[in-house]
Amino acid sequence: MPTTLEVKTPRLVTAIPGPNAKRVLERDARFMSPSYTRDYPLVARRGRGAIVEDVDGNAFLDFAAGIAVCSTGHCHPQVVAAIQNQAAELIHMSGTDFYYESMPELAERLGRTMPGTESKKVFFTNSGTEAIESAVKLARYATRRDKFIAFYGCFHGRSMGALSLTASKSTQRKGFGALLSGIEHIPFPYAYRCAHGHTAETCGAEILEQLEGQIFKRLFDPEDVAGIIIEPIQGEGGYVPAPKFFLQELQRICHQHGIMFIVDEVQSGMGRTGKWWACEHAGVEPDILCSAKGIASGMPLGAIIAKESVMCWKPGSHGTTFGGNPVCIAAALATMDLIESEYKENAHRMGDYLFGRLADWVKDFRIVGDVRGRGLMIGIEIVRDQRTKEKAADLRNAIVDLAFHKGLLVLGAGENTIRLSPPLLIDQEQADFAARTLEDCFREAEKKV
Ligand SMILES: Cc1ncc(COP(=O)(O)O)c(C=O)c1O
Repeated sequence: MPTTLEVKTPRLVTAIPGPNAKRVLERDARFMSPSYTRDYPLVARRGRGAIVEDVDGNAFLDFAAGIAVCSTGHCHPQVVAAIQNQAAELIHMSGTDFYYESMPELAERLGRTMPGTESKKVFFTNSGTEAIESAVKLARYATRRDKFIAFYGCFHGRSMGALSLTASKSTQRKGFGALLSGIEHIPFPYAYRCAHGHTAETCGAEILEQLEGQIFKRLFDPEDVAGIIIEPIQGEGGYVPAPKFFLQELQRICHQHGIMFIVDEVQSGMGRTGKWWACEHAGVEPDILCSAKGIASGMPLGAIIAKESVMCWKPGSHGTTFGGNPVCIAAALATMDLIESEYKENAHRMGDYLFGRLADWVKDFRIVGDVRGRGLMIGIEIVRDQRTKEKAADLRNAIVDLAFHKGLLVLGAGENTIRLSPPLLIDQEQADFAARTLEDCFREAEKKV
C-alpha cells in the first residue's frame, strides 16, 4: 500500500478535523491574529506533489497550492535539493550591499521570459505586496508623476501603498483610514456580468471610453498619470480574464501618454496559464511586470521586471535587506528549470483537458453561472439562478467546505467564485478526481436551492 504522500488522490482516515488538528485549531485560536481568513480547518503537516497530508494522517488533493504558490508542487525534490545546498553554503548576504552570482543569473533568466525586445532589469522583493509597492515607486520615479489608474476587483496587496491600488473587498480597507491619494479606480472588464452585453472578447470598450473621455478629461490629465496597473486575469477578484483587445488598448493609451503599463502577474504568472505570463496571451509588452507567489515554489520571493529604460533609479533610491535572498533565489532557479522543461506545457495541456471536462457544467448544473480562465487558473462562478445571475456566496462556501470533507482543497475567490489553482504538475487522474468531486458537491449544493 502506498504511504500517505505517495497516493495520487485523497485518502481520509479520520473525521475531519481529526484529534490532532483540533488541538492545533484551539491553540491557533488563542495565539494567532484573528485577521487571517481560514475557509476550513486544514492543518497541514507535509506535502509532496499535489498531495498534502494533515496532522492526523489524512491525504488531501491540493487544488489551491497555497494560493497559487506551490507551482512545482509541494517539496519538489529538485527545489528541496536547491534550497538545502544553498542553505549549507550561504543563507544571507543582502543584495542591497553585496553581490552574489545567483542574483544576476535569476534576473537575466526572468528578463528573458518577459515579452519585448528591450533589455530588462530586475528588483527582488520578499512578497507580491512589496513587488507592487516597488512598481508604484519605480513608476513615480521614472515618470516624475504621481497618479495611478487601477481597477475595481483587483487585488494588489495590503501595505498602505499596495492597498491603495487594491479594490477587492472593503473589509481589506475598513478601519485603516486614509490611503495614498491620486489613485482612481475604474471597472474591470467582467464579461459574464458585462453591463453592455459584450462577449469575453469585446467586453470593456465602454470602460476605455470612460478612461479617455471622463477620467482623463475631468479628473487626471494623462500627463500626470504615472501608471495604469492591471491583473491580466483578476485573481482574488474572482479569476476574471481581461479580454485581449482591452490589454492591447490599455497599452496603446499608456504609450500615447507616457504612462507606465504595469502588469500584476503575482497570481497569474510563472507558467500558470501555459505561458510564463498571462499578458503574453494578449501580445502586450508591459513596462513593469510584478511577480511573486509561484516564482520560488513557496520560498518568499517577489520581483519586478522592468524595461531597462524604465528601471533608471539611482543607488540608494530603493533597496531591501532580505529581498532576493540566496536561498529563495536557488529555489526560484530550480522552479524556473522545472516550469521551463515541463510544467508550463503541462499547465497548458491539463488546463485544456480540464476546460474540456468542465465545458458542460453551465448546462449540467443550474448553480454554475460561468466557467472561465486559462491554463490552470480556472474560476467557477456560483449563482442562485442562471437567469438573474444572483451571486450565491453561501452556496460557494458550502461547496468549498464539502470539497474539503471529500479530500479536495479548493479556495474561493471574489464573492461567489471557486478558484482552481493546482500545482502545475497535476495529471489527468487528479484533474478527473477534482472535477468529479466538484460535480458531487454541486449536486449536494443544488439541493439547498
Ligand atoms: C495579483 C496579486 N497581487 C499582489 C498580491 C500580494 O501578494 P503577497 O500576498 O505575496 O504580498 C496578491 C496576493 O494574493 C495577488 O494575488
